[in-house]
Amino acid sequence: MTYQLPDEHIQALLEAAIAAPSMHNTQPWRFDVEGHVIDIYLDGSRTLPAEDPTGRAMRIATGAATFNLRCAAEALGYGTWFGLAPYPEEPDLLARIVVEPAGHPNSELRDLAAEIPKRHTDRNPSGTAPVNQRVRVALILAAYAEGAELSWLTDTDIDAVRDMVLDTDLREIHDWHRSAERAHWVGGARTTDGVPSSALGPRSTTYPAVVRDLATSPADRMRGASAFEGQPQLAILSTKHDEPSDQVAAGVALERILLTATREDVSASFLNQPLEYDDLRRKVQRLTGEPGHAHMIIRFGHAHAATGTGRRPVADFLPRDPE
Ligand SMILES: Cc1cc2nc3c(=O)[nH]c(=O)nc-3n(C[C@H](O)[C@H](O)[C@H](O)COP(=O)(O)O)c2cc1C
Repeated sequence: MTYQLPDEHIQALLEAAIAAPSMHNTQPWRFDVEGHVIDIYLDGSRTLPAEDPTGRAMRIATGAATFNLRCAAEALGYGTWFGLAPYPEEPDLLARIVVEPAGHPNSELRDLAAEIPKRHTDRNPSGTAPVNQRVRVALILAAYAEGAELSWLTDTDIDAVRDMVLDTDLREIHDWHRSAERAHWVGGARTTDGVPSSALGPRSTTYPAVVRDLATSPADRMRGASAFEGQPQLAILSTKHDEPSDQVAAGVALERILLTATREDVSASFLNQPLEYDDLRRKVQRLTGEPGHAHMIIRFGHAHAATGTGRRPVADFLPRDPE
């Protein structure tokens, strides 16, 4: 007989999973729980056809949710093992997590579970204190533990990223499809999905900025401005290959990095706009000096002023009972 997870544990595991980051807070995942096996699927109704036409960002987000679920299971005393993209003939099934009543405890994942509710994308200025070398190495190791690479950028590389951000903005000026899609997900007082105005952080007093300004509405575009750090601390998250399962793995690594950063009191936000264009994505990867495929540009710092974003109720992510 297979082990049946108690309902309150299923609820806790899925609440942890859906706290993961996702582009524009689309929460593009679905879950199916059978006994002690949890399958995580892409939700094809939560796509971003203009900004994420291939579904890369959806797969990264789902990887992040997978990592949270593993951490939460460890915190409840379970062990876990998991497989990414287990069946090629079922492309929407991105990960299968087996929750074991008597597993081998992983104390690192158990400790990181405590950081899940504290982690938020922080788009505020970060101040000038550098992220120290010990933490930089801890974040590299967090990526490595999940089969990905985190490369810290030099000052020259950071200037190159700034140029690419400017290039992206120019490409987007007349892209009404992108602006309309963003307006659908960003701004206003959102409580269950999307990015509310309260999470946008201030505008930057300088341009091009080292933070992505997601504002679309006139009110958000006119919000208060602050000076951001002149020399941001940027790192690139990459994987060696770029199959769908590599993109899910990048998301697993992303969340391990973000929870490790949260535990170290280090804030994070994303400057992913160049990665949405294939030619610029290749240029970004070249900055790392390694072969591979870039998935995230992360700005680390010491901001600590982020307000959270909402989530839908857990029941929304489970199969509906037949009427
Ligand atoms: C694949 C991916 C790409 C993202 N790209 C950006 C980005 O370019 N700029 C940004 O400000 N936030 C970006 N985000 C952050 C999301 O907007 C954020 O995770 C979401 O609004 C939920 O908020 P939270 O992270 O505070 O829980 C990205 C997140 C993911 C997973």
